[in-house]
Amino acid sequence: MRPSHFLLTSLAMVAAVPGGEWHPPNLTTESAKDLLLETGTCCAALSQALGAMVSYPGQHSFESSVASYWSVLERELSPSCVVTPNEKSDVSRAVFILRIGDEVFPGQCNFAVRSGGHTPFAGSANIESGTTIDLTKLRPIDVSADRTSNFEVVLASGEIVNANATSHPDLWRALKGGSNNFGIVTSLTMRTFPQGDFWGGFLVIDIAAIEQQFAAFEALLGNPDYDPYASLIFTLFWDAPTDVWATSYSMHYTKPMENPPAFRNFTSLPQLYGTMRTSNLTDFALELAVTNPSDHRDLFVTATCRNSAEMMAAIYRISQTIVAPLRSVPNIKLSISMQPQPAFLSRKSASTGGNAFGLNDEDEDLFNVLLTITWDRAEDDALVYRQARSLLDQLEAAARDLGVDHPYIYLNYAGPWQLDAIVAGYGAESVERLRETSRKYDPRGVFQRQVPGGFKLGI
Ligand SMILES: *[C@@H]1O[C@H](CO)[C@@H](O)[C@H](O)[C@H]1NC(C)=O
Ligand SMILES: *[C@@H]1O[C@H](CO)[C@@H](O)[C@H](O)[C@H]1NC(C)=O
Ligand SMILES: *[C@@H]1O[C@H](CO)[C@@H](O)[C@H](O)[C@H]1NC(C)=O
Ligand SMILES: *[C@@H]1O[C@H](CO)[C@@H](O)[C@H](O)[C@H]1NC(C)=O
Repeated sequence: MRPSHFLLTSLAMVAAVPGGEWHPPNLTTESAKDLLLETGTCCAALSQALGAMVSYPGQHSFESSVASYWSVLERELSPSCVVTPNEKSDVSRAVFILRIGDEVFPGQCNFAVRSGGHTPFAGSANIESGTTIDLTKLRPIDVSADRTSNFEVVLASGEIVNANATSHPDLWRALKGGSNNFGIVTSLTMRTFPQGDFWGGFLVIDIAAIEQQFAAFEALLGNPDYDPYASLIFTLFWDAPTDVWATSYSMHYTKPMENPPAFRNFTSLPQLYGTMRTSNLTDFALELAVTNPSDHRDLFVTATCRNSAEMMAAIYRISQTIVAPLRSVPNIKLSISMQPQPAFLSRKSASTGGNAFGLNDEDEDLFNVLLTITWDRAEDDALVYRQARSLLDQLEAAARDLGVDHPYIYLNYAGPWQLDAIVAGYGAESVERLRETSRKYDPRGVFQRQVPGGFKLGI
């Protein structure tokens, strides 16, 4: 069970404006160069400009920042310094100095941008021997009074701009899927709606009825009148000590209606355990968080498939074949989650300005597959990665055989070796638009070259 930061975790970075003559108050290109030459390193120059917002190994704010990543794999990197900005102007000054720093000390001023810090693989939001900009002190989510949305972004030049439907609309669209390739998002204004109590919870259905569960999932997702209030995460769990599999659901219907028709094909099957109830979003979010404990090594790997119960059965079959060698890994947890991604979601996005995912007007019902493995010892990394790759390779081959493969890769769940495939999965047209947008807002390629974490646009 993972999900749910579907939107928020991807909001990391940004870019510059042609000419680059913009500079922050009290700093010019010349004075920044002087500062860098006087102090000798990017971190030291940042300390001069930002004072105690810059911290070093051994200092409390450095150590607590590094210790707060969800996955231990991210905590094992040691940046040269961590910048913890208090406000957007601090982010702007930091990016300005890091950009000029790369001119003065080429290759020595690389940086990472960290928002929630949930992506598990090393280097996605942290960096060895560079600067990590930790955004946790910014409280960037606003509720929009007029129900529109807007990104406030620090570009590679350091300039702060608004990207929305009427201001820099190309950048606005690129940020919906473009991750850390364009700038640092310092504030996000979202369209909202009131949400009262609703029905949902956690449900364990007897795995003896697995075929009926696959059929129920296919029928729910394939319903031409998909009920937009119905959301579920179906999970296959493997219990390593007993080598037993189980099926569970995180199931929510965002109206206060008990056991709605959309879910009855599931709820009519034999249940072993359940917490289904009417409650509020906070309560349900806390319940989901319990299934995502921190302090372990974690791997996510993902794929997207077209709606097919037969494919779900293939995923279960393949999963059973790769787990045997993993039984020797202490404290291993392995699960495979599947989430409906009905066609109406992309149609809805297209009607509100589109996105960079290449999923505009998608007319097919898809489902997301997420493999999650957690374990504790570094010496098991290679085995875990090997088995995960094997599962994904076999899964992709099975999807092709069944004609249900799809190139889209949901970036928040991508494994470290899937990054190039994310860009490819967006489709040639979307990638060309993203590259154009990058060249326009970041002509020097700061976010392509100096920010190595995450997927890059290949320019
Ligand atoms: C710019 O310098 C002035 C005068 O030294 C100072 O008062 C002000 O806080 C500085 N502004 C920034 C953004 O550092
Ligand atoms: C879009 O950006 C412009 C320019 O900064 C700003 O005036 C406007 O309020 C923004 N619109 C929204 C909906 O935030
Ligand atoms: C329940 O399953 C039946 C039989 O597969 C199917 O016809 C129906 O559409 C399903 N109902 C929903 C709401 O998914
Ligand atoms: C949400 O539900 C929990 C559990 O019933 C309750 O303790 C809490 O007060 C509720 N919060 C809100 C904001 O209603």
